[in-house]
Amino acid sequence: MARSLRVAPEYTNKVKLALRRNGYPSQTKFCEHITPAISTVKNFFSGKAIDYEYFLEICEKLGLDWRETAYKELENQPTNGEASPFITGAPITQPRYFFGREKELKRLFNLLKRHPLQNAAIIGKKCSGKTSLLHYLKNITTTPAEKLRPGQKSDWLPHPETYQWVFVDLQDTRMQSREGLLKHILASLKMKAPTPCDLENFMDVVSENLSSPTVILLDEIGVGLQRCPELDDTFWESLRSLVTNHTRGNLAFILSSPESPTELAHNTGHSSPFFNIFGYTAYIEALTELEARELIASLPIPFPDEDVEWILTHSQCHPLILQILCRERLFTLEEGENNDNWREEGLQQMKRFADLLH
Ligand SMILES: Nc1ncnc2c1ncn2[C@@H]1O[C@H](COP(=O)(O)OP(=O)(O)O)[C@@H](O)[C@H]1O
Ligand SMILES: [Mg+2]
Repeated sequence: MARSLRVAPEYTNKVKLALRRNGYPSQTKFCEHITPAISTVKNFFSGKAIDYEYFLEICEKLGLDWRETAYKELENQPTNGEASPFITGAPITQPRYFFGREKELKRLFNLLKRHPLQNAAIIGKKCSGKTSLLHYLKNITTTPAEKLRPGQKSDWLPHPETYQWVFVDLQDTRMQSREGLLKHILASLKMKAPTPCDLENFMDVVSENLSSPTVILLDEIGVGLQRCPELDDTFWESLRSLVTNHTRGNLAFILSSPESPTELAHNTGHSSPFFNIFGYTAYIEALTELEARELIASLPIPFPDEDVEWILTHSQCHPLILQILCRERLFTLEEGENNDNWREEGLQQMKRFADLLH
Protein backbone atom coordinates (compact mmCIF):
# COMPACT_ATOMS: atom_id res chain seq x y z
CA MET A 1 0.00 0.00 0.00
CA ALA A 2 1.22 3.47 -0.85
CA ARG A 3 2.13 5.58 2.11
CA SER A 4 -0.07 8.50 2.95
CA LEU A 5 0.85 12.00 3.98
CA ARG A 6 -0.94 14.83 5.72
CA VAL A 7 -0.37 18.54 6.07
CA ALA A 8 1.61 19.46 9.18
CA PRO A 9 -0.59 21.38 11.66
CA GLU A 10 1.57 24.49 11.38
CA TYR A 11 0.98 24.53 7.62
CA THR A 12 -2.82 24.24 7.49
CA ASN A 13 -3.30 28.01 7.18
CA LYS A 14 -0.49 28.28 4.68
CA VAL A 15 -2.03 25.70 2.32
CA LYS A 16 -5.37 27.54 2.42
CA LEU A 17 -3.63 30.80 1.59
CA ALA A 18 -1.79 29.06 -1.25
CA LEU A 19 -5.15 28.12 -2.75
CA ARG A 20 -6.22 31.76 -2.91
CA ARG A 21 -2.79 32.92 -4.00
CA ASN A 22 -2.96 30.60 -6.97
CA GLY A 23 -6.31 32.07 -8.01
CA TYR A 24 -8.67 29.24 -7.02
CA PRO A 25 -11.87 30.62 -5.46
CA SER A 26 -12.75 27.32 -3.76
CA GLN A 27 -11.58 23.76 -3.13
CA THR A 28 -14.24 22.53 -5.58
CA LYS A 29 -12.89 24.75 -8.37
CA PHE A 30 -9.34 23.67 -7.57
CA CYS A 31 -10.44 20.06 -7.81
CA GLU A 32 -11.29 20.53 -11.50
CA HIS A 33 -7.60 21.02 -12.26
CA ILE A 34 -6.17 17.97 -10.56
CA THR A 35 -6.54 14.18 -10.45
CA PRO A 36 -7.79 13.54 -6.87
CA ALA A 37 -11.49 13.73 -6.05
CA ILE A 38 -13.07 16.47 -3.96
CA SER A 39 -13.21 14.26 -0.86
CA THR A 40 -9.41 13.82 -1.06
CA VAL A 41 -8.91 17.54 -1.60
CA LYS A 42 -11.09 18.32 1.43
CA ASN A 43 -9.08 15.86 3.50
CA PHE A 44 -5.86 17.51 2.35
CA PHE A 45 -7.00 20.97 3.43
CA SER A 46 -8.29 19.75 6.76
CA GLY A 47 -5.01 18.04 7.60
CA LYS A 48 -6.16 14.44 7.14
CA ALA A 49 -3.92 11.82 5.58
CA ILE A 50 -4.23 11.31 1.83
CA ASP A 51 -2.42 9.14 -0.69
CA TYR A 52 1.23 10.10 -1.09
CA GLU A 53 1.01 10.72 -4.84
CA TYR A 54 -2.04 12.97 -4.55
CA PHE A 55 -0.30 14.89 -1.82
CA LEU A 56 2.64 15.56 -4.13
CA GLU A 57 0.36 16.56 -6.97
CA ILE A 58 -1.65 19.02 -4.88
CA CYS A 59 1.49 20.59 -3.40
CA GLU A 60 3.02 20.95 -6.81
CA LYS A 61 -0.10 22.61 -8.20
CA LEU A 62 -0.13 25.05 -5.29
CA GLY A 63 3.58 25.81 -5.59
CA LEU A 64 4.31 24.33 -2.17
CA ASP A 65 7.33 22.27 -1.20
CA TRP A 66 5.71 18.96 -0.23
CA ARG A 67 8.56 17.97 2.03
CA GLU A 68 8.09 21.05 4.10
CA THR A 69 4.31 20.89 4.06
CA ALA A 70 4.02 17.24 5.11
CA TYR A 71 3.72 16.24 8.72
CA LYS A 72 7.01 14.50 9.49
CA GLU A 73 5.74 11.08 10.40
CA LEU A 74 8.38 9.44 8.25
CA GLU A 75 10.61 9.36 11.30
CA ASN A 76 7.98 7.11 12.82
CA GLN A 77 7.82 4.59 10.06
CA PRO A 78 6.19 1.56 11.59
CA THR A 79 8.55 -0.78 13.34
CA ASN A 80 6.25 -3.72 13.89
CA GLY A 81 5.15 -6.55 11.68
CA GLU A 82 1.55 -5.39 11.22
CA ALA A 83 2.56 -2.34 9.25
CA SER A 84 2.66 -2.05 5.48
CA PRO A 85 5.89 -3.74 4.48
CA PHE A 86 6.44 -1.56 1.43
CA ILE A 87 7.48 2.01 1.12
CA THR A 88 7.10 3.23 -2.42
CA GLY A 89 8.21 6.77 -3.00
CA ALA A 90 9.19 8.27 0.33
CA PRO A 91 12.80 7.72 1.44
CA ILE A 92 13.32 4.90 3.89
CA THR A 93 14.23 6.17 7.32
CA GLN A 94 13.87 3.03 9.45
CA PRO A 95 16.81 0.68 8.88
CA ARG A 96 14.66 -2.46 9.02
CA TYR A 97 12.98 -1.49 5.74
CA PHE A 98 16.26 -0.87 3.93
CA PHE A 99 17.81 -3.67 1.85
CA GLY A 100 21.11 -4.25 0.12
CA ARG A 101 23.85 -1.78 -0.84
CA GLU A 102 26.33 -3.99 1.03
CA LYS A 103 29.23 -3.08 -1.21
CA GLU A 104 28.62 0.66 -0.94
CA LEU A 105 28.09 0.48 2.81
CA LYS A 106 31.36 -1.33 3.28
CA ARG A 107 33.27 1.26 1.27
CA LEU A 108 31.55 4.22 2.88
CA PHE A 109 32.01 3.02 6.46
CA ASN A 110 35.64 2.23 5.69
CA LEU A 111 36.15 5.90 4.89
CA LEU A 112 34.46 6.93 8.11
CA LYS A 113 35.97 4.52 10.59
CA ARG A 114 39.55 5.83 10.56
CA HIS A 115 41.22 9.17 11.01
CA PRO A 116 41.16 11.36 9.07
CA LEU A 117 37.56 10.74 8.06
CA GLN A 118 37.18 10.93 4.29
CA ASN A 119 34.56 12.45 2.06
CA ALA A 120 32.35 10.62 -0.38
CA ALA A 121 29.71 11.25 -3.01
CA ILE A 122 26.65 9.13 -3.73
CA ILE A 123 25.50 9.43 -7.32
CA GLY A 124 22.25 7.99 -8.63
CA LYS A 125 19.19 8.91 -10.64
CA LYS A 126 16.03 10.29 -9.07
CA CYS A 127 14.38 7.56 -6.97
CA SER A 128 17.45 5.33 -7.04
CA GLY A 129 17.70 5.33 -3.24
CA LYS A 130 20.18 8.10 -2.39
CA THR A 131 18.23 9.67 0.45
CA SER A 132 17.41 6.25 1.88
CA LEU A 133 21.10 5.37 1.86
CA LEU A 134 22.04 8.59 3.67
CA HIS A 135 19.44 7.91 6.37
CA TYR A 136 20.72 4.37 6.67
CA LEU A 137 24.32 5.50 7.16
CA LYS A 138 23.16 7.88 9.87
CA ASN A 139 20.97 5.39 11.72
CA ILE A 140 22.15 1.82 11.24
CA THR A 141 25.07 1.77 13.66
CA THR A 142 23.04 2.99 16.64
CA THR A 143 19.67 1.32 16.06
CA PRO A 144 18.96 -1.27 18.77
CA ALA A 145 18.93 -4.89 17.56
CA GLU A 146 15.22 -5.33 18.36
CA LYS A 147 14.39 -2.68 15.76
CA LEU A 148 16.39 -4.43 13.03
CA ARG A 149 15.65 -7.52 10.97
CA PRO A 150 17.18 -10.69 12.36
CA GLY A 151 20.80 -10.88 11.19
CA GLN A 152 20.92 -7.33 9.82
CA LYS A 153 24.50 -6.05 10.05
CA SER A 154 24.95 -2.97 12.20
CA ASP A 155 28.51 -3.17 13.59
CA TRP A 156 30.08 -1.10 10.84
CA LEU A 157 31.92 1.29 13.16
CA PRO A 158 34.13 0.43 16.15
CA HIS A 159 32.62 3.16 18.40
CA PRO A 160 29.36 4.26 16.82
CA GLU A 161 28.26 6.11 19.94
CA THR A 162 31.05 8.65 19.50
CA TYR A 163 29.84 9.72 16.04
CA GLN A 164 27.74 12.76 15.34
CA TRP A 165 25.59 12.88 12.20
CA VAL A 166 24.02 15.88 10.55
CA PHE A 167 21.42 15.42 7.84
CA VAL A 168 20.91 18.35 5.47
CA ASP A 169 18.19 18.24 2.82
CA LEU A 170 19.07 21.01 0.41
CA GLN A 171 15.58 20.82 -1.07
CA ASP A 172 14.28 22.15 2.22
CA THR A 173 13.97 25.92 1.72
CA ARG A 174 15.19 26.54 5.25
CA MET A 175 18.56 25.08 4.24
CA GLN A 176 18.90 27.36 1.25
CA SER A 177 20.18 30.42 3.09
CA ARG A 178 23.61 30.56 4.68
CA GLU A 179 22.29 31.37 8.10
CA GLY A 180 19.56 28.71 7.97
CA LEU A 181 21.99 26.02 6.94
CA LEU A 182 24.73 26.99 9.40
CA LYS A 183 22.25 27.17 12.29
CA HIS A 184 20.88 23.76 11.38
CA ILE A 185 24.37 22.24 11.41
CA LEU A 186 25.19 23.83 14.76
CA ALA A 187 21.88 22.74 16.29
CA SER A 188 22.45 19.17 15.12
CA LEU A 189 25.92 19.26 16.70
CA LYS A 190 24.43 20.71 19.89
CA MET A 191 26.64 23.78 19.56
CA LYS A 192 25.39 27.23 20.41
CA ALA A 193 24.88 29.49 17.38
CA PRO A 194 26.99 32.66 17.58
CA THR A 195 25.56 36.12 16.90
CA PRO A 196 25.65 36.92 14.12
CA CYS A 197 25.66 33.39 12.74
CA ASP A 198 27.85 34.20 9.75
CA LEU A 199 30.44 32.07 8.05
CA GLU A 200 33.38 33.39 10.04
CA ASN A 201 31.76 32.87 13.45
CA PHE A 202 30.48 29.47 12.38
CA MET A 203 34.00 28.39 11.42
CA ASP A 204 35.32 29.54 14.80
CA VAL A 205 32.66 27.72 16.80
CA VAL A 206 33.05 24.47 14.87
CA SER A 207 36.84 24.41 14.80
CA GLU A 208 37.02 25.15 18.54
CA ASN A 209 34.38 22.63 19.61
CA LEU A 210 34.41 19.73 17.21
CA SER A 211 36.20 16.92 18.97
CA SER A 212 34.46 13.71 17.93
CA PRO A 213 33.99 12.13 14.51
CA THR A 214 31.30 14.01 12.63
CA VAL A 215 29.62 13.31 9.32
CA ILE A 216 27.58 15.94 7.50
CA LEU A 217 25.23 14.40 4.94
CA LEU A 218 24.29 16.81 2.14
CA ASP A 219 21.30 15.44 0.27
CA GLU A 220 20.60 16.83 -3.22
CA ILE A 221 23.60 19.13 -3.27
CA GLY A 222 22.71 20.12 -6.87
CA VAL A 223 19.75 22.10 -5.58
CA GLY A 224 22.12 24.07 -3.36
CA LEU A 225 24.32 24.87 -6.32
CA GLN A 226 21.57 25.68 -8.77
CA ARG A 227 19.10 27.60 -6.70
CA CYS A 228 20.86 29.14 -3.73
CA PRO A 229 22.88 32.27 -4.45
CA GLU A 230 23.90 32.52 -0.78
CA LEU A 231 25.66 29.17 -1.03
CA ASP A 232 28.39 30.58 -3.23
CA ASP A 233 32.04 29.72 -3.85
CA THR A 234 33.17 31.47 -0.66
CA PHE A 235 30.72 29.37 1.31
CA TRP A 236 31.85 26.05 -0.14
CA GLU A 237 35.51 26.97 0.13
CA SER A 238 35.10 27.71 3.82
CA LEU A 239 33.56 24.28 4.33
CA ARG A 240 36.47 22.75 2.49
CA SER A 241 38.95 24.55 4.68
CA LEU A 242 37.04 23.44 7.77
CA VAL A 243 37.35 19.81 6.71
CA THR A 244 40.93 19.90 5.55
CA ASN A 245 42.58 22.26 8.03
CA HIS A 246 40.54 22.99 11.11
CA THR A 247 38.87 19.90 12.48
CA ARG A 248 41.79 17.50 13.01
CA GLY A 249 40.43 14.86 10.68
CA ASN A 250 37.18 14.62 12.61
CA LEU A 251 34.88 15.94 9.91
CA ALA A 252 33.64 14.42 6.67
CA PHE A 253 30.97 15.27 4.14
CA ILE A 254 28.89 12.78 2.22
CA LEU A 255 26.83 14.27 -0.53
CA SER A 256 24.20 12.92 -2.85
CA SER A 257 23.38 14.08 -6.34
CA PRO A 258 22.26 12.80 -9.70
CA GLU A 259 25.56 14.02 -11.24
CA SER A 260 29.20 13.90 -10.22
CA PRO A 261 30.09 16.79 -7.90
CA THR A 262 32.84 18.26 -10.07
CA GLU A 263 30.67 18.22 -13.17
CA LEU A 264 27.86 19.70 -11.16
CA ALA A 265 30.07 22.52 -9.93
CA HIS A 266 31.32 23.12 -13.43
CA ASN A 267 27.83 23.13 -14.95
CA THR A 268 26.50 25.56 -12.39
CA GLY A 269 29.38 28.00 -12.73
CA HIS A 270 31.11 27.29 -9.43
CA SER A 271 34.82 26.85 -8.89
CA SER A 272 35.39 23.34 -7.70
CA PRO A 273 37.92 23.10 -4.81
CA PHE A 274 35.21 21.92 -2.39
CA PHE A 275 33.96 19.37 -4.86
CA ASN A 276 37.44 17.98 -5.42
CA ILE A 277 37.65 16.65 -1.86
CA PHE A 278 35.21 13.84 -2.62
CA GLY A 279 37.67 11.06 -3.19
CA TYR A 280 35.25 8.16 -3.39
CA THR A 281 32.06 8.00 -5.40
CA ALA A 282 29.38 5.36 -4.93
CA TYR A 283 27.21 4.94 -8.01
CA ILE A 284 23.92 3.43 -6.97
CA GLU A 285 21.63 1.58 -9.34
CA ALA A 286 19.98 -1.82 -8.95
CA LEU A 287 20.37 -4.12 -5.96
CA THR A 288 22.13 -7.43 -6.49
CA GLU A 289 19.82 -10.36 -7.13
CA LEU A 290 20.50 -11.76 -3.67
CA GLU A 291 19.63 -8.44 -2.04
CA ALA A 292 16.44 -8.22 -4.09
CA ARG A 293 15.47 -11.75 -3.05
CA GLU A 294 16.02 -10.79 0.57
CA LEU A 295 13.61 -7.89 0.17
CA ILE A 296 10.96 -10.17 -1.34
CA ALA A 297 11.54 -12.81 1.34
CA SER A 298 10.86 -10.25 4.08
CA LEU A 299 7.17 -10.28 3.18
CA PRO A 300 4.49 -11.35 5.61
CA ILE A 301 3.08 -13.77 2.96
CA PRO A 302 5.51 -15.85 0.88
CA PHE A 303 5.13 -15.37 -2.89
CA PRO A 304 4.85 -18.28 -5.32
CA ASP A 305 8.25 -18.98 -6.94
CA GLU A 306 7.12 -17.97 -10.43
CA ASP A 307 5.96 -14.60 -9.08
CA VAL A 308 9.33 -14.03 -7.41
CA GLU A 309 11.07 -14.70 -10.73
CA TRP A 310 8.64 -12.45 -12.62
CA ILE A 311 9.24 -9.62 -10.17
CA LEU A 312 13.02 -10.01 -10.32
CA THR A 313 12.98 -9.96 -14.12
CA HIS A 314 10.66 -7.01 -14.53
CA SER A 315 12.15 -4.86 -11.79
CA GLN A 316 15.70 -5.63 -12.86
CA CYS A 317 16.28 -5.57 -9.09
CA HIS A 318 15.73 -1.85 -8.90
CA PRO A 319 14.58 -1.19 -5.31
CA LEU A 320 11.69 1.17 -6.05
CA ILE A 321 10.29 -1.01 -8.83
CA LEU A 322 10.72 -4.08 -6.63
CA GLN A 323 8.72 -2.37 -3.91
CA ILE A 324 5.97 -1.41 -6.37
CA LEU A 325 5.63 -4.91 -7.85
CA CYS A 326 5.76 -6.58 -4.44
CA ARG A 327 3.10 -4.19 -3.20
CA GLU A 328 0.80 -5.13 -6.10
CA ARG A 329 1.34 -8.85 -5.58
CA LEU A 330 0.93 -8.70 -1.84
CA PHE A 331 -2.28 -6.74 -2.18
CA THR A 332 -3.86 -9.37 -4.43
CA LEU A 333 -2.60 -12.26 -2.30
CA GLU A 334 -4.16 -10.63 0.73
CA GLU A 335 -7.42 -10.42 -1.24
CA GLY A 336 -7.10 -14.13 -2.02
CA GLU A 337 -6.72 -13.60 -5.78
CA ASN A 338 -4.86 -16.36 -7.56
CA ASN A 339 -4.71 -15.13 -11.13
CA ASP A 340 -2.08 -13.05 -12.94
CA ASN A 341 -4.08 -9.83 -13.25
CA TRP A 342 -1.84 -8.11 -10.73
CA ARG A 343 1.02 -8.23 -13.25
CA GLU A 344 -0.76 -5.88 -15.62
CA GLU A 345 -1.44 -3.45 -12.79
CA GLY A 346 2.19 -3.76 -11.68
CA LEU A 347 3.48 -2.97 -15.17
CA GLN A 348 1.12 -0.02 -15.32
CA GLN A 349 2.30 1.30 -11.94
CA MET A 350 5.99 1.00 -12.79
CA LYS A 351 5.67 2.84 -16.12
CA ARG A 352 6.33 6.20 -14.51
CA PHE A 353 9.73 4.96 -13.42
CA ALA A 354 10.72 3.34 -16.69
CA ASP A 355 13.76 5.62 -17.01
CA LEU A 356 15.26 3.96 -13.93
CA LEU A 357 15.66 0.76 -15.93
CA HIS A 358 18.13 0.29 -18.73
N1 LIG B 1 17.93 0.16 -0.04
C1 LIG B 1 16.61 0.16 -0.29
N2 LIG B 1 15.83 -0.85 0.18
C2 LIG B 1 14.52 -0.87 -0.10
N3 LIG B 1 13.89 0.07 -0.83
C3 LIG B 1 14.60 1.09 -1.32
C4 LIG B 1 15.99 1.20 -1.07
N4 LIG B 1 16.46 2.30 -1.69
C5 LIG B 1 15.40 2.87 -2.29
N5 LIG B 1 14.27 2.16 -2.09
C6 LIG B 1 12.95 2.46 -2.68
O1 LIG B 1 13.12 3.53 -3.60
C7 LIG B 1 12.30 4.64 -3.23
C8 LIG B 1 13.06 5.93 -3.50
O2 LIG B 1 14.18 6.04 -2.63
P1 LIG B 1 14.86 7.45 -2.29
O3 LIG B 1 15.89 7.18 -1.27
O4 LIG B 1 13.83 8.47 -1.98
O5 LIG B 1 15.56 7.81 -3.70
P2 LIG B 1 16.31 9.15 -4.15
O6 LIG B 1 16.69 9.91 -2.93
O7 LIG B 1 17.49 8.68 -4.94
O8 LIG B 1 15.33 9.91 -5.02
C9 LIG B 1 11.90 4.40 -1.78
O9 LIG B 1 10.59 4.87 -1.51
C10 LIG B 1 11.90 2.89 -1.67
O10 LIG B 1 10.67 2.38 -2.14
MG1 LIG C 1 16.14 11.85 -2.41
